[in-house]
Amino acid sequence: MSVSNPTANSVTDAAADKPAHQSTLTTVEKYRRYVNTSAVKGIEPLVISRAEGANVTTQDGQTFLDCFAGIAVVNAGHRNPEVLDAVRAQLEKLIHCCSYVYYVEPVADLAERLAQATPGALQKTFFCNSGAEAIEGAMRLARAASGKQEFIALQGSFHGRTNGTLTITGNAGRKKRGGPYGTGVAFAPAPYRYRCRYCQGASACTLACADAVEDAIQYGTAGNVAAFIAEPVMGEGGIIVPPDGYFARVKAILDQYGILFIADEVQSGFGRTGRLFAIEHAGVVPDIMAMAKGIADGFPLGAFIAPERIADSFQPGEHLSTFGGNPVSCAAGIANLDFMLREDLPGQAAQKGAWLLERLGELAERFPLIGEVRGRGLMIGVELVTDREAKTPAASQANRTRELLRERGVLIGVGGHYGNVLRIQPPLVIEQDQLETLLDALTEALEVISI
Ligand SMILES: Cc1ncc(COP(=O)(O)O)c(C=O)c1O
Repeated sequence: MSVSNPTANSVTDAAADKPAHQSTLTTVEKYRRYVNTSAVKGIEPLVISRAEGANVTTQDGQTFLDCFAGIAVVNAGHRNPEVLDAVRAQLEKLIHCCSYVYYVEPVADLAERLAQATPGALQKTFFCNSGAEAIEGAMRLARAASGKQEFIALQGSFHGRTNGTLTITGNAGRKKRGGPYGTGVAFAPAPYRYRCRYCQGASACTLACADAVEDAIQYGTAGNVAAFIAEPVMGEGGIIVPPDGYFARVKAILDQYGILFIADEVQSGFGRTGRLFAIEHAGVVPDIMAMAKGIADGFPLGAFIAPERIADSFQPGEHLSTFGGNPVSCAAGIANLDFMLREDLPGQAAQKGAWLLERLGELAERFPLIGEVRGRGLMIGVELVTDREAKTPAASQANRTRELLRERGVLIGVGGHYGNVLRIQPPLVIEQDQLETLLDALTEALEVISI
């Protein structure tokens, strides 16, 4: 990739062919020509034109089982009928007026529901448009509430693609060629039991990774820490489930130092892990919780919620978002949450996920390529290694497995620091026969790859 002189082609650029009318190019050709995809990891494109439940259908009529759900977004299923009805009704009434300049009913109603559905004293929500914007806002609120500036984050974490969220993201792969980032962040080790360097020699987990949060505070900061931020289950980092007791131990350390806890539930929230929010598994209540993805079943919406005493730390004019709290997205969010709670999607995720984890565990006994199967609910990772003893990451095999699954009509994700973790995060409404289709396709793919 050449970066020598980005202005060198300005004459030819100006003369570039720009057809005046809509061309006969295919969707893929238009993407190549007009959509900036250079930042996206290259995989053979699929043009999706319809979706329903856990299925997506391409322009040329092929149907795939979607076990990635638009990166853990459509938890209540693609085009959930109740969400669609709510959206249609809202479209007839109001699309935008800026929900901060004027008040709108869907914002008030969704905020009330979130206050009821989230743990502890979390009460007042700020709505925005994406996960990164929610994290940025949460960071800003933590600073406003604490009067302190620094952050502790985790190695292996991912919090978004803006400058601020990349500053606290603990993954060089996501940060490369974009720095230098902001200052004022210290990283603690990921609670990653499979690759833990801290409990070696101990017969069981000692939660040394949690204790290392105190080291990060002591040795990596100026003693001016506003908040510790963590994903209750890491997503992009490779579906990393912390050991039992991790967040309780960390919270005790934070309380000792008067440091706030921001839970990044952008990926783990809205039923995915078997509870409405993944931090509930730990029995710890965060001071600020950031949400997005699964909040509105595919409509763009982000949010962060805090107890009144923290939320009210913003002063007038300090924070706003033009599109934040879009009435249509909020109407979708209300219908999504109502559906989720009534149908007990968290319970469904717990039960379906337990079944799938057990079956995947059986595959791990059969295929040495599988180093570890882990997850909570329907947030499942299968870490591939070429050598179980050395835990050598099998990234190319992970990509190949994804391709083989696709050839068999099943879509999954791949992630992890080494790019060697299969990510299985389907809509939570996925049905038993569809889970079996996934499993059969994965078994076949592993058979092919293990030859
Ligand atoms: C845990 C977590 N936080 C934040 C983000 C950023 O969300 P968005 O892409 O909506 O900005 C993501 C996206 O994958 C995420 O997984």
